[in-house]
This record gives sequence, C-alpha cells and structure tokens, in this order.
Amino acid sequence: MTLSGGFTGAAIVAGIAGWPVKHSRSPRIHNYWLQQYGIDGVYVPFALAPETAIEAIRMLPALGIRGMNVTVPNKEKAYKAMDEVDRWAERLKAVNTIVVRDGVLHGANTDAFGFLESLREAQPDWQADAGPVVILGAGGASRAIVAGLLDAGAPEIRIANRTPERSDAIRDEFGSLVRPVPWERRADALGDATLLVNTTSLGMEGQPALEIDLAKLPATSMVYDIVYVPLETPLLAAAQARGNPAVDGLGMLLHQARPGFREWFGTDPVVDQALRDHVLAAL
Ligand code: ATR
Repeated sequence: MTLSGGFTGAAIVAGIAGWPVKHSRSPRIHNYWLQQYGIDGVYVPFALAPETAIEAIRMLPALGIRGMNVTVPNKEKAYKAMDEVDRWAERLKAVNTIVVRDGVLHGANTDAFGFLESLREAQPDWQADAGPVVILGAGGASRAIVAGLLDAGAPEIRIANRTPERSDAIRDEFGSLVRPVPWERRADALGDATLLVNTTSLGMEGQPALEIDLAKLPATSMVYDIVYVPLETPLLAAAQARGNPAVDGLGMLLHQARPGFREWFGTDPVVDQALRDHVLAAL
C-alpha cells in the first residue's frame, strides 16, 4: 500500500531521460496515474547528458530501474543502447520508451502510436486512406508521424519544410508516397488534403507565428497542431474559425505515455479530461 501520493522502499522506479529534463511534463502524467491507480511506484526526471547517455542507460538493469522514457536529445543514443527494439524504433532509429525485462533492454517508439490514438480520440471516424495529408516540418516528430500515417494507410503525404534537404531525406527513407513540396508553396498543397499537421515549432510560445493561408483547405479536413503551449495555437484558432475540426498537441503527449506506463507498472492507464486538466494546470 502507498501513502497518498507517496511510495515505499518497494516502489517500482521509472523516469524520463532528457537534457535538459526540467521542462518535461511526463513526471506529472505518470505520477498522476500512479496516484490514481494506487500503485507503489515513482517516476522521476533524470538529466542525462548526451555524451554519457548510452553508458547511463546501459546501467538501468544494474540500478533496478524498470524503464524510462527518453526525450530530446537522447532518443537516438537510446536506440544505440538497446538490446532489442520494436518495429517503430527500428524504423525511426530512435527510442522514446525503454523497458527492462529480465536484465534485457527493450526499446520502443510510441510517438506514432500517440499521434494516431489522439487523432482517433478526437475524430473516431477519421480514415487514413481518405486522401492526401499535408505535414509542415521535417524533424523527429514529423518522421514519427509520417511513419504512423503510412502504416495506417495514407495514400500520399506532402511535406513542406523550410530546409528542403530534410523533407527530401524523409522521402528517400520512407518512399514515393512522401512528396516534398517547397515551403513557399505550402498553402497550394492544401487543395484536396484531408488532414493538415503542423510539426514545426512555429506558433509555440516564444516562437514566430506559423503563417499559412488555409483558403484552399476543404471545410471538412482536420487540422492538427503538435504544439501544446499554447493549447490553442493561431493555426487551430484559424481552422476553427472556418469550421475545420481542430486537434491540439496535448493528446499526442498523453497517449504516447500509455505503453510505457502499462509495461512498467502493470496497468493500462486511461487518458481522460481529469488528466488533461491536471497537465494543463502546470502548462
Ligand atoms: P522535432 O524533432 O521536435 O520535430 P526539430 O528537428 O527541431 O524538432 O524540427 C523543428 C521543425 O520546425 C523543423 O522542420 C524546422 O525546419 P528546418 O528543418 O528548416 O529547421 C521547423 N522550423 C523551426 N523554425 C522555423 C521557422 N522559423 N520557419 C520555418 N520552419 C521552422
């Protein structure tokens, strides 16, 4: 038994490895679930410098730590430190969830899962094969979302990125269903799109605004912004103003956390409004 919000010497230990890690919202998510389900466990932030991240991660079994989430800039290092990886981690060459099982390090990548689950939560009748998708940005989040959408059956993914070499690299890696479009032409790519996803940092608090004219986007198409500070970005406000269904970035963050929690602590956790409110209260 645990005290309210507390844990004992027998607690299962998990956490998150980032550098810096102090901005991570993950401790708030997992510790909320631990308390909610009365589990004797704790989820702590680990500041792991990228230079020594591999060594540190290899020590998890010796330390008796059940697992970790991994965030920027350690996801690629974590991939290299694993004994085994799932198909998403293999595809993305990046690990965001580590599970220690019988002393063996298993790596998973749950970002694509988190994206698809949050999309389906917001729009249960959404069909990946309904038409082309437009993605803005070509960083790590974009790659995970491309992998997820292709797996789900998207027929065409147009990627607009300021630096064209990065969108070309995604096409080279993921194949010809990925079509790079020039950043300047991003508004023209919206014509028959069923989904627009912003994966850039534009529109985030303290960053420049994302400028895109939505005039060509069909009225029923979904607009998804992975930015969640602020929760309602100017892009989502513009989408809503013209009647497009809009999905904020908090859902991806919450849903990507589920598989790790289930593996470490043995309970499949629920993403609900109370959890959203709990995380929002600290944003
Ligand atoms: P992540 O891994 O979280 O996706 P990232 O790799 O830093 O983050 O990618 C950030 C994305 O935002 C990139 O697509 C970046 O474009 P570049 O590849 O050209 O750098 C995009 N981005 C950031 N600032 C931008 C700006 N001022 N204008 C256009 N795109 C921008």
